[in-house]
Amino acid sequence: MSVLKIGIIGLGYVGLPLARLFATKYAVVGFDINSDRVADLKIGVDATQEVADDLLKEVLKNVSNNENGLFITADSDYLKECNYYIVTVPTSVDKNNQPVLKPLLSASKTIAKYLQKNDIVIYESTVYPGATEEDCIPVLEKESGFIFNQDFFVGYSPERISPGDKVRTVESILKVTSGSTVETAKKVDDLYKSVIKAGTHLAPSIKVAEASKIIENCQRDINIAFVNELSKIFSLMNINTSEVLEAASTKWNFLPFKPGLVGGHCIGVDPFYLAQKAQQFGYYPEIILSGRRLNDSMGNHIASEVVKLMIDREVKVKGANVLILGITFKENCPDIRNTKVIDLYQSLKSFGLKVEVYDPWAKKAAVKNEYDIDLLETLEDHTYEAIVLAVAHKQFKTIDISNLKKKKSVVYDIKNFLEIKDKSL
Ligand SMILES: NC(=O)c1ccc[n+]([C@@H]2O[C@H](COP(=O)([O-])OP(=O)(O)OC[C@H]3O[C@@H](n4cnc5c(N)ncnc54)[C@H](O)[C@@H]3O)[C@@H](O)[C@H]2O)c1
Repeated sequence: MSVLKIGIIGLGYVGLPLARLFATKYAVVGFDINSDRVADLKIGVDATQEVADDLLKEVLKNVSNNENGLFITADSDYLKECNYYIVTVPTSVDKNNQPVLKPLLSASKTIAKYLQKNDIVIYESTVYPGATEEDCIPVLEKESGFIFNQDFFVGYSPERISPGDKVRTVESILKVTSGSTVETAKKVDDLYKSVIKAGTHLAPSIKVAEASKIIENCQRDINIAFVNELSKIFSLMNINTSEVLEAASTKWNFLPFKPGLVGGHCIGVDPFYLAQKAQQFGYYPEIILSGRRLNDSMGNHIASEVVKLMIDREVKVKGANVLILGITFKENCPDIRNTKVIDLYQSLKSFGLKVEVYDPWAKKAAVKNEYDIDLLETLEDHTYEAIVLAVAHKQFKTIDISNLKKKKSVVYDIKNFLEIKDKSL
């Protein structure tokens, strides 16, 4: 390989920050099939707000050449001069919680068109152990006519960023790497080491690297499920869960997880990938799936708690106005994919409540399109019988809740975040 040129396929939450980082040292072609996203990025605007506009503009270039910098395109033909390909496309689940590999397979097909001898394809998308070798590589081989580990090579390096986290950015998070041969593994590791300040951990195989990523998210899911279960138990016992957790956290080895809704495209999805694969091997994963079930039940549970409180305080339930603060899947980020606030919204509506949602981070059009909800533009001149804080956006810290409350009302703070609180999990 003479000049090193990297093609990054999929410029979302994961792909764009990575492309920007590599572009500070290498010639990078960033390819995405979403032409609207490409048009925004080409003028230095990242709607996900993961990469600051000025940082993006610093690396952008208008021509695809061998100079350092990032050329962004929706035309896959520009990938043909690349010799390293990095795949950062989505891996979601369908309505039956089965893995959707279509974007991964289609990205593999695109790459195969341009693959040349000795090229390296690195997958970053989160998958079950075996997906790279059993699902993706056969597509690369079939479409290119090349032989794996003879004509081309493969690596896997999972991403660990968390959307909205401006401290732990891609270069400051230690990265697990792997490769299909000893030599490839070293090349993949060297490539990431050259830009990741926190360093790398070279895993002994692609399957180990795949498994290491999926269990990170399974572990979080299960731990959150445990505290969610505690919150259900303590609610029945009329004990404040936050106060219990605060007291328990004074022990050195108590893990500081908090109850809440578990949405998004990682923690609420990845356990299903491992569960599905486990079942192919004849093992039914009990803890992983009961954690998922428990966490997925929280929207309904919180809605019932809100209604119980309303009844308790003699607030008329049917037709009452309710405000939900926040609809994104987590705080201080515009990502609404797989948000579990929607379960809460629907459950509250099923009790006959009139529900409104306010979120200063979410895009109005995206929420309308995805969930058919018209987000409030402002909170001015609105009052409610119930207010539920669902997402701890920093803007909500400064809201004066007393202005939003009707005389008889309930404030339910899922995140234990507001200054005024009547009740939290
Ligand atoms: N978002 C996170 O915080 C995070 C963290 C760690 C790992 N991951 C994993 O990284 C992967 C990517 O996640 P994301 O959040 O960046 O997704 P995303 O939806 O934000 O971005 C994916 C991008 O890929 C593009 N795309 C889809 N199919 C394509 C194709 N065939 N060719 C080219 N582009 C295509 C989409 O248009 C989109 O812009 C997933 O496997 C996810 O589980 C995500």
